[in-house]
Amino acid sequence: MSTALDGKSAVVTGAGSGVGRASAVRFAQEGARVIVADIDLDQAKETVRQIEGSGGTAVPVGVDVADEEQVRVMFRTAVDWFNRLDIVFNNVGIPTPRLGMSFEDHTLEDFNRLVAVNLGGVFLGCKYAVLQFKSQGTGGVILNTGSVAGLVAWGGSVYGATKGGVLQLTRAVAIEAAPFDIRVNAICPAAMPLTGFMAAGGLQVDDAQRAGIAGKVGEQHPLGRAITAEDCAEAALYLVSDAARNITGVALPVDGGYVAR
Ligand SMILES: NC(=O)c1ccc[n+]([C@@H]2O[C@H](COP(=O)([O-])OP(=O)(O)OC[C@H]3O[C@@H](n4cnc5c(N)ncnc54)[C@H](O)[C@@H]3O)[C@@H](O)[C@H]2O)c1
Repeated sequence: MSTALDGKSAVVTGAGSGVGRASAVRFAQEGARVIVADIDLDQAKETVRQIEGSGGTAVPVGVDVADEEQVRVMFRTAVDWFNRLDIVFNNVGIPTPRLGMSFEDHTLEDFNRLVAVNLGGVFLGCKYAVLQFKSQGTGGVILNTGSVAGLVAWGGSVYGATKGGVLQLTRAVAIEAAPFDIRVNAICPAAMPLTGFMAAGGLQVDDAQRAGIAGKVGEQHPLGRAITAEDCAEAALYLVSDAARNITGVALPVDGGYVAR
């Protein structure tokens, strides 16, 4: 039996789809009890159904990670259910309203929403995680989802700027919280055409088109494969587990070698 996270309780945001769902399922397989948080409660409930179907424990929570009061309630719900919290995975990120749009076509409203969700959501998730971990007094683990778009100029100017902010916040909070045995890391995925992200960016494709895009994306990676949500879930599992107990402040690319070229 797999027990890397036995006895741990975790919050995973954006867990109704893609990386968040795959990670919530994977954490539960390793014994964690999981708060499955998403702005789309029906999708969160579907993830919970999958976890419970495999004998795991999970609770769905509807939340907009850009809304402080809703984030506060999400943390309170987690502690009410599980008595304590060990792992917080701030995974939500939204794309530009239209994937591929030019920098100058972003409105101030586009900019403000991207910053509020992608950077503000991670700020709030880190803040309430640190408060909870400090009150428990026994350390804790935070993981944030960045992007290769926060490491190199790829994937949208404003989106990339928010992800650059996520990575700097990750490093800074990691140093400030280290004396409290709180670890803070980030994963940086490359393009994942098989999650819900393209649709969120206004790109509607059928399965055949999606497979074609995945093939083309894979060709841009030295390892020759597109990244999947499951690839990210494995990296996430490692970073939130005790196996990574001496790792903090890192931004781990999950990119098939894309940024190493
Ligand atoms: N897919 C990619 O190409 C790609 C590449 C690099 C990084 N990322 C990052 O990976 C993370 C996960 O993306 P994904 O590909 O799994 O996308 P996805 O669209 O499949 O999943 C995102 C989930 O977040 C939820 N969500 C959106 N706004 C929210 C909000 N304000 N509050 C709470 N939940 C909200 C959505 O309902 C959805 O379930 C994001 O941070 C994204 O920026 C994605």
